[in-house]
Amino acid sequence: MSLYHRIAELQGDRPWGAMLDAGTGRNSMRWLLSLPTERWTAVTGSASMARRTDTEIGTRSRQADRLVVGNWLDPALLLGERYDTVLADYLLGAIEGFAPYWQDQLFARLRELVAADGRLYVVGLAPYVPQLPDTLDAAGSLVTRIGRLRDACLLLAGDRPYREFPLDWTLRQIERAGFRVLHAEQVPIRFGTRFVDGQLDMCIRVLERVADRQLAAALHTHVDTLRMEAHLRIAEDGGLRTGHDYVIAAEPCLTSAGSACVSTGVEGTEAIRNFLMLPERRLPDAKADASDGQLRQHGGWFGEAGRSPVPAAAGMP
Ligand SMILES: C[S@@+](CC[C@H](N)C(=O)[O-])C[C@H]1O[C@@H](n2cnc3c(N)ncnc32)[C@H](O)[C@@H]1O
Repeated sequence: MSLYHRIAELQGDRPWGAMLDAGTGRNSMRWLLSLPTERWTAVTGSASMARRTDTEIGTRSRQADRLVVGNWLDPALLLGERYDTVLADYLLGAIEGFAPYWQDQLFARLRELVAADGRLYVVGLAPYVPQLPDTLDAAGSLVTRIGRLRDACLLLAGDRPYREFPLDWTLRQIERAGFRVLHAEQVPIRFGTRFVDGQLDMCIRVLERVADRQLAAALHTHVDTLRMEAHLRIAEDGGLRTGHDYVIAAEPCLTSAGSACVSTGVEGTEAIRNFLMLPERRLPDAKADASDGQLRQHGGWFGEAGRSPVPAAAGMP
């Protein structure tokens, strides 16, 4: 089951109404287009991502539907608008590329846009780059080494890599921003060849901009070796089973401003945190099979980490 299917399950019979895809791309747009929404707005910080998303939309947009290039840092972006459903699909991890050190403000910014009886859905990826490859199993070590190499290439080329945040951090921020968490779950990942090639092809592309050509050539060789190792392992094991995505559902908390907005019930964040403290356990309601995992084939969106997008964001079209 895909993460989008999981969100649809959590939504149940509730109408999607006016929907905001707060960090759009081809995958979330494809899903959004399949839903019976009243209208939708899709936001991206990247003009090239907007072009790719527009290709996905084709002729399927209605008059009230909008694809917007803008930056959530801009207080005027969608000012005064309200949405019944807001989706933040891998948006948090990408913020570093567009609004560095602003991740703690994201959910308060989105809170303004969620209708009083609306829903926020967050999809995130648990950080894997900072792990120590030597402490992991073969699949974990490979994925972490790929992530580290990718980020090293990006940094050497003058770009700003993405930065992911763990579920626990994200739950805290969502609550602080005035939401009540209704549900959170982790979904194990199985990385495939498209992920591996997406990440490593991007390395090769950005290495063209590394001034030290000797260093670039050595990194190129390293990319080739790692790619071969990963492909072999995937052929043997059917994928690299490591790490997890997470899905969170939340609703605006209606307590008066300034008072604590506590998530309650068996699926509340306290229960989730307690659960998280138990190693090797899965969150309540997690549907995916931990021994198999969600096959992550979409590596494409990392490709938008083009030349540092921050200066461009200042003069966003
Ligand atoms: C990883 S991509 C999302 C992937 C997408 N949901 C998909 O279909 O797979 C992250 C998205 O968030 C957008 N984004 C990141 N930071 C942003 C910001 N500060 N303002 C506006 N958009 C931002 C990026 O431009 C991109 O469209």
